[in-house]
Amino acid sequence: MKRIIFAGDDVPSLLALANKPAVDLRVHLVYCLHEYLLATRKWALAMPKEIVFPAALCLAAMISLAACSPFAHLTEVNNTLGSAHGPKAAECGQCHIEQFGEWQHSAHARAFVNPGFQAMLAEGGDDSCLGCHVPDTVRSNGEPPAPRSYQREDGVSCVACHLSQGAMTGPEPESGLFAPHPVVVQPEFFRNSSLCGACHAETFSDWQASRLAQPTTPTCQECHMPQVVRTATKGSNLFSKGLVSFEESRPTRRHTFGLSHLAGMDGAVRMEVTGWQPAPLNLLQLSLTNTLPHALPTGAFRSRQIHLTMRLYSPDHVLLAENPVPLTGESPEPLKPGEQRQIRIRFAPAQEPPMGSLLTVELRLAPLGNETEMILAGRELPLPKAP
Ligand code: HEC
Ligand code: HEC
Ligand code: HEC
Ligand code: HEC
Ligand code: HEC
Repeated sequence: MKRIIFAGDDVPSLLALANKPAVDLRVHLVYCLHEYLLATRKWALAMPKEIVFPAALCLAAMISLAACSPFAHLTEVNNTLGSAHGPKAAECGQCHIEQFGEWQHSAHARAFVNPGFQAMLAEGGDDSCLGCHVPDTVRSNGEPPAPRSYQREDGVSCVACHLSQGAMTGPEPESGLFAPHPVVVQPEFFRNSSLCGACHAETFSDWQASRLAQPTTPTCQECHMPQVVRTATKGSNLFSKGLVSFEESRPTRRHTFGLSHLAGMDGAVRMEVTGWQPAPLNLLQLSLTNTLPHALPTGAFRSRQIHLTMRLYSPDHVLLAENPVPLTGESPEPLKPGEQRQIRIRFAPAQEPPMGSLLTVELRLAPLGNETEMILAGRELPLPKAP
């Protein structure tokens, strides 16, 4: 049996979304259908196959009628300054509820409104800054995208990655009879790091070199978009949930594009204490190896401050010393992928550390906006014997 699909909120809000006066014949048809399904809700949930099939066909016919044009605004774009218009991310979010919720809290959603960017723009930034922060269609041809003139406050928006030539491009085909917009399937585009490389140029060239040396290197998406199994849309009430249940659940990735799910990722950096010279020198020598396929910190703008926090505990857990060391800014230079670096840190405990003292080393990423600080990697390391 062919599956039938409907999405998002209930029918009235879909119609509101469609932005059309409710005088149309198609609108009446959908309203009738809505009433009918509400009246037969129990039936709709317990659906025996013999009834579902004809009812589904009927429903599909009506929905496709209703869908002839009310959703055209989702793919209609004019990028000319002055008369620019196109869909807002929140409109996509009416049906793609989870994707919108994830994206909304990501740095991508803030790429234009973020105060750091706005300040630099005011200080003499120009249109050349907008291509990556407020992009029109992104293609992985090595060119940064052109600036987008509509819905600028959406930053790196849904349409940038998904809307191309009047269709939504995505990794998977439609799994139902009805989608309110055309869908074009391009898995190789969406599951390839070069999509991210269109804007993250420095990070991407690091990654390419790592991948060449180590073919099992994961893609950007594999690390920065956590795995999830789900349907492309979600229902928000009994009615739409029942209808969305016709969609296929598929393995895909969350739109968090962030770092917080990488917290505690001990594989990111290898740490070792390679030397300890007690008072009067108080010098600790630490070896750090960047195991990531890109620099640490990465990117031309390096918005994240990174620092190490070291704490020395006596065998009975008394804190003897604490020392945060910046690993970011002008100096020291970022660690290249695979690079191992020895750093020497002056580290003065309140008393001579007794045998069996333990050093904890944490790599912390400073927050952006109102996030909380994140510990990327942490180790407990025994303090070696003084020479
Ligand atoms: C080729 C794409 C590209 C262009 C062009 C570009 N940026 Fe960015 N920008 C990025 C990326 C990607 C990041 C994310 C962090 C990183 O990789 O350094 C970023 C981050 C930033 C940040 C840090 C944001 C934060 O959260 O603190 C600022 C500020 C910024 N850019 C300003 C600018 C300005 C000003 C211009 C124009 C002179 C500009 N950018 C042009 C891609 C670009
Ligand atoms: C920076 C590019 C980018 C942006 C911005 C983006 N996406 Fe995606 N999207 C992707 C990638 C990559 C995948 C493929 C994930 C995978 O491997 O399955 C994807 C997959 C999807 C899918 C199909 C998989 C699923 O989650 O069910 C939908 C639907 C989708 N995106 C909607 C949206 C919406 C809605 C927005 C805005 C709120 C958005 N995307 C913003 C890159 C992006
Ligand atoms: C009225 C509900 C609705 C709205 C609004 C909507 N979509 Fe969709 N979208 C769907 C449905 C239904 C499908 C097909 C899902 C299926 O059949 O599995 C779909 C499919 C997709 C896919 C392909 C999913 C995949 O797995 O590859 C992408 C990408 C996508 N939409 C992006 C968007 C973007 C971006 C917007 C906003 C400009 C948007 N959609 C607005 C309902 C909607
Ligand atoms: C259209 C340009 C563009 C594309 C394509 C793009 N990004 Fe970004 N990305 C940015 C910009 C700009 C920022 C910085 C936003 C800010 O902080 O204001 C950013 C920030 C990030 C961050 C930093 C988040 C943080 O919390 O510090 C990560 C991680 C990221 N992007 C991953 C990805 C991945 C993975 C892809 C590919 C699926 C991708 N990006 C595709 C422009 C882009
Ligand atoms: C093996 C997992 C892994 C892969 C693959 C990976 N990253 Fe990262 N990325 C991380 C970790 C962990 C961090 C946090 C440490 C840091 O800031 O460098 C990070 C940080 C970032 C940041 C934040 C930088 C900042 O200072 O704001 C951006 C942007 C980013 N990655 C983009 C990318 C892009 C683009 C790709 C693909 C070309 C990619 N990453 C591939 C694990 C990965």
